[in-house]
Amino acid sequence: MKYYILFGPPGAGKGTQATSMVERYNLRHISTGELLRKEIKAGTELGLQAKALIEKGCLVPDEVVEGMIESEFNTVKGVDGFLLDGFPRTIAQAQALDQMLAKRNEQLTAVVSIMIPDQMIIDRISHRAAIEGRADDANVDIIKNRIATYHNQTEPEIEYYAKNGKYNEIDGVGTIEEVRDRIFALVDKF
Ligand code: AP5
Ligand code: MG
Repeated sequence: MKYYILFGPPGAGKGTQATSMVERYNLRHISTGELLRKEIKAGTELGLQAKALIEKGCLVPDEVVEGMIESEFNTVKGVDGFLLDGFPRTIAQAQALDQMLAKRNEQLTAVVSIMIPDQMIIDRISHRAAIEGRADDANVDIIKNRIATYHNQTEPEIEYYAKNGKYNEIDGVGTIEEVRDRIFALVDKF
């Protein structure tokens, strides 16, 4: 099985590029953000707790998302691998993922990191706000807080994965098709 992490700041294009990756490589796309939004929509206890944090641009507790990932690993069949979008987002989550994979006698295939500058994050997310109506896209202060959360809590993972040779960075500036082709050129090698 292949295990890919699709890494990158908010609005980098993780969800967009995941669509073509799952098709080309027969992967299951797991977006913790999407799973959390489903819980919110369904009005579950977990959703209620997550809502307040997400709408401030903060992360939900590590254990919550780790449980979601493990349950997908245990139940999804018939794919050649998994594409993790928005997970792991902290060093603790990265360590938890290593343990989950070790328990399954598997290892991470690669981190595919889509990089764009902060100003482009704001432009893309502000544009998406009108289309998707996500509460965490609704104003610039929340978007800025998501960017700060990314720099403070998620960016340290780059060093974590660079050290074990799994980190691969893709320039996320360009058309959707240009970025897709850069990703395919990289992932075709694994
Ligand atoms: P999540 O849903 O993961 O949001 P995010 O990381 O902020 O990323 P986005 O979904 O906003 O962006 P994306 O990279 O998918 O970009 P997209 O393809 O949509 O997480 C939401 C929240 O949930 C978090 O803030 C946190 O609270 C919580 N959470 C989730 N996971 C967690 C975890 N592991 N631990 C703790 N908390 C967690 O593209 C953006 C826009 O740009 C779209 O409109 C798209 O059409 C456009 N676009 C894409 N590519 C291009 C291009 N090349 N050119 C022009 N436009 C483009
Ligand atoms: Mg997304």
